[in-house]
Amino acid sequence: ETKPRIPVLWLHGLECTCCSESFIRSAHPLAKDVILSMISLDYDDTIMAAAGHQAEAIIDETIAKYDGNFILACEGNPPLNQEGMSCIIAGKPYLQQLMKAAEHAKAIISWGSCASWGCVQAAHPNPTQATPIHKVPGLPSKPIIKVPGCPPIAEVMTAVIAYILTFDRFPELDLQGRPKMFYSQRIHDKCYRRPHFDAGQFVEAFDDEGARKGYCLYKVGCKGPTTYNACSTVRWNGGLSFPIQAGHPCIGCSEDGFWDKGSFYER
Ligand code: SF4
Ligand code: SF4
Ligand code: F3S
Repeated sequence: ETKPRIPVLWLHGLECTCCSESFIRSAHPLAKDVILSMISLDYDDTIMAAAGHQAEAIIDETIAKYDGNFILACEGNPPLNQEGMSCIIAGKPYLQQLMKAAEHAKAIISWGSCASWGCVQAAHPNPTQATPIHKVPGLPSKPIIKVPGCPPIAEVMTAVIAYILTFDRFPELDLQGRPKMFYSQRIHDKCYRRPHFDAGQFVEAFDDEGARKGYCLYKVGCKGPTTYNACSTVRWNGGLSFPIQAGHPCIGCSEDGFWDKGSFYER
């Protein structure tokens, strides 16, 4: 309670903004408590009141005031082709904004599959050369934590922030840079439909008898057996449900390359 709120610059590259949409719906802790009591969200062009030159000036102010002591949260990624011209913010390529902030940041959070892996805008043949944060050539060497998912689960996002603030370090990461506490198990490992998988009871087509009985979705393309994420334990909407519980196969949205790895609806 006595700790000063850590400044955060939350930058947006090529993305759809649903990582932010997920974040603001966190129930435990509430996103408002994170923003008002835990971090000082100095810049986030999606939800900040400031706009235009006033908004952009905040980045310089934060860098000058908290050099080496703020968190850089990245939603989306930079396109490298044509000198970054496919993503312009305040008249300049997002790439420039990213490089400058990264140089002065304490650490970087890569929110979602865009920042962590590239996501749909990096789909083959990737004409804009959309590139995940950790692969940007010349990016200043800073600790990077990946929180993949399209989007990540709200409570996973706020828990990562809460952990960093509480312990003043990143949670333990796996070899791909993801927090082990949320990404060390497959959806399949904790899926409530798993007994149907083990019993050989499968949905063969959407809306068939098996679908009505809640059978396993593997044969209609579920990627739960190869997807590391917390959806089947933490779930979504405050723990209410997750894609499989809603009758839809997991498309593996937290995995690197999911957008190019074949049909979402075939095994
Ligand atoms: Fe949107 Fe997905 Fe990218 Fe997040 S990871 S900004 S949800 S496209
Ligand atoms: Fe595994 Fe998907 Fe079947 Fe669940 S629905 S048991 S995650 S294959
Ligand atoms: Fe994504 Fe699969 Fe969870 S599609 S939201 S990782 S159930």
